[in-house]
Amino acid sequence: MSDPTVAKAIIEGLRSTPKTLPTALLYDALGSALFEAITELPEYGLTRADLRMIEGHAGDVVRAVGGPVDVVELGPGGGRKAAIFLRAVGAAQAHTTFTAVDVSAAALRDCKRALEAMDGVEVRCVEATYLEGLRRAERVPGTHRLVLFLGSNLSNFDRRDALAFLRDVRATLAPGDALLLATDLEKPAAQLLPAYDDALGVTAAFNRNLLVRLNREYGADFALADFAHEARWNALDRRIEMHLVARRACVVHLLDATVAFAAGESVWTESSHRFRTDELRACADDSGFACIEQWTDAAWPFAHSLFLAR
Ligand SMILES: C[S@@+](CC[C@H](N)C(=O)[O-])C[C@H]1O[C@@H](n2cnc3c(N)ncnc32)[C@H](O)[C@@H]1O
Repeated sequence: MSDPTVAKAIIEGLRSTPKTLPTALLYDALGSALFEAITELPEYGLTRADLRMIEGHAGDVVRAVGGPVDVVELGPGGGRKAAIFLRAVGAAQAHTTFTAVDVSAAALRDCKRALEAMDGVEVRCVEATYLEGLRRAERVPGTHRLVLFLGSNLSNFDRRDALAFLRDVRATLAPGDALLLATDLEKPAAQLLPAYDDALGVTAAFNRNLLVRLNREYGADFALADFAHEARWNALDRRIEMHLVARRACVVHLLDATVAFAAGESVWTESSHRFRTDELRACADDSGFACIEQWTDAAWPFAHSLFLAR
């Protein structure tokens, strides 16, 4: 349902140049289901790389952190990766508390369903944004906290905001706690663009569903046929940008605002930055962590960096 703070952000974004919309709004129930479908697409190699890496070294992560851990995942989606990770944790400790933090109630429901039958795992769900949820996630005495931030979710932040975010995550942790950060690495635009503009049109539906949500929850009157999905590679900032581009000049009403679109004008809905491994290690140093391990996937360049709170 409509949230006044979010409504304010939507209107500010639509009045800015270029026009933007909050990325987290992509994840209502249908958006979360469409994202799960994206992870199965042949063009979207990220999830398969992330899964290969979790399968390959989740046990090494747990050993490197040492001692019992409580696990918090930021934005777990349907919990597929958490299930694999928690199996590795289960080999090292009999009982694990897993806290899922996600803005999507549907994702949390699916995540809980996927994990609740696991022996020795207690699942807690916090419906909130990443930092708010991390701050609210109750500590488990006698454990180190291990935060998972997978799926290259960090890519959605501008680089400067990503560093500020890592500092904020660090501020919630104690020395010896850890963050496992999964990020997509640089690769040719010809390989990346289809991952965000697939032949079946699932990513286009995921992006355009944001307008369906604004119509339903914020009383907007976007005509879906007027907006096309577009994925762009921004070489300077090393990121994919998702846009919704007006096919013709049109006027949209939303709450008490009226927003005019010129033909060809876009609303920028998501950024997805690409990283370099040395840049990630520098981010650890600059945010109060030390990068103690880094693994990479060769088939789809992707990195898992294990940051230990100093
Ligand atoms: C790209 S999906 C990734 C899901 C999963 N981590 C994976 O790797 O497949 C992003 C997830 O983060 C959630 N999310 C997006 N922005 C968020 C925010 N600002 N705070 C909390 N959750 C957020 C979405 O609901 C979604 O479940």
